[in-house]
Amino acid sequence: MIDLEKEQELMSLAIGASQKSYSPYSNFQVGAAILCDSGKIFTGTNVENASYGGGICAERSAAVTAVSQGERKFLAVAIFGSFKDAKEDGLQYAFPCGICRQFLREFASKDMLVLVGTSVEDYKKFSFHDEILPHSFGPEDLKVEV
Ligand code: THU
Repeated sequence: MIDLEKEQELMSLAIGASQKSYSPYSNFQVGAAILCDSGKIFTGTNVENASYGGGICAERSAAVTAVSQGERKFLAVAIFGSFKDAKEDGLQYAFPCGICRQFLREFASKDMLVLVGTSVEDYKKFSFHDEILPHSFGPEDLKVEV
């Protein structure tokens, strides 16, 4: 369980991370903030590439950063995405893409939450396992402990 203050901190960090986006091709700026079981939070943004398929999403960018620092269990992830220079009333909830869902699955805690928001006050909350990636395939299917 995480409290309201922590949820808002995660959304705020995701919004901040989106401002670092390198997305000259799509102009879609995404930020993600992952709360790990250590209590630490790691952020990431999408980084595109002239060879389009070489880009990486914000969620995987944050996840790779966390795992690179020794983290293995994620309690929550907050995601914010918007077109560069979007007006406040043009914002939409940015859900994780399919590849990111599977990537996060590897390190998702039993109760992992996914927050998608347009601001620190306006976000929706989902259960990762019940609502974002149900009936998933993960490490335990290969008898691996994370
Ligand atoms: N993007 C993310 O960062 N996360 C997602 O879950 C969906 C898409 C990025 C990838 C690309 O840089 C841009 O948004 C447009 O697809």
